[in-house]
Amino acid sequence: MKETSVDFYFFSGTGNTLLAARAVTRGLREGGKDVRLRRLEKGFVPFRDGDTALGIAVTVAMFSTYPFAWDFLESLPDGEGRGAFLISTMGGASGGLRPAVKKLLVSKHYTPLGARDFVMPSNYNNITISLEKNREKTERMEKNAAAFADALLEGNAPWKGGNVLSPLLYRLSRRQWPWKLMSRKFHLEVDRAKCIKCGKCARLCPAKNIRMEEYPEFLDRCVSCQRCIAFCPPAAIGVQGKNYQQYRSVEYGELVSENL
Ligand SMILES: Cc1cc2nc3c(=O)[nH]c(=O)nc-3n(C[C@H](O)[C@H](O)[C@H](O)COP(=O)(O)O)c2cc1C
Repeated sequence: MKETSVDFYFFSGTGNTLLAARAVTRGLREGGKDVRLRRLEKGFVPFRDGDTALGIAVTVAMFSTYPFAWDFLESLPDGEGRGAFLISTMGGASGGLRPAVKKLLVSKHYTPLGARDFVMPSNYNNITISLEKNREKTERMEKNAAAFADALLEGNAPWKGGNVLSPLLYRLSRRQWPWKLMSRKFHLEVDRAKCIKCGKCARLCPAKNIRMEEYPEFLDRCVSCQRCIAFCPPAAIGVQGKNYQQYRSVEYGELVSENL
């Protein structure tokens, strides 16, 4: 990587992608790069200068990523040749993400520096959480993320292509109906006896799907990112008819920290 600094945008539903972004950031900083980690949902901030690369870290969802993350990517300005890299975390399979992000970035004149998926615990309907397995996956991610940062620094990180299904998976994730179908299947509900009316769920929702009346009310824009369930202090939000356990890999303060 020839750029001396990186503006590194992440979205993380329950913390996994934040952990991966932090691990890559550590490696880049050890290699002398000035990295600013930014929350993707707060929007794009103009690049510091022409010597700043772009980093993107997103959750794999529906073999691609969330609609608001695509909106962010599509809203990026012309890269004017600057380098860009992508990381993502997933339960096991992406497919529609890496090739489509590369195509989009190249069309905006960014230079692809490398892309890598990291396997992390599934945060979706994870009702049989094995803490031991979760730890093993996280430790493996930390090692792989450090190696990826080294490869970025040395300029030999790959950006592997997808498979024949990749264009289809990407297009599917850009339609509204699959997300609606998923959110209707996993219908959110609030246990009013437990709710402390703190409003954290509404503030954290990246899809602006929660309106805080006396209790949280869910609208029709949910993309099932799990944030509201994960960070509800009394675990009052769940999925109707399901034994849903709260899963998160960072604490609320870490997710919203301005000092990343
Ligand atoms: C709505 C939703 C869809 C998901 N879809 C996929 C998927 O298509 N492939 C996959 O490997 N993992 C999938 N996962 C699992 C997440 O990608 C994985 O747990 C990720 O590390 C979560 O990161 P985060 O905590 O930063 O959001 C999905 C999770 C959610 C909540």
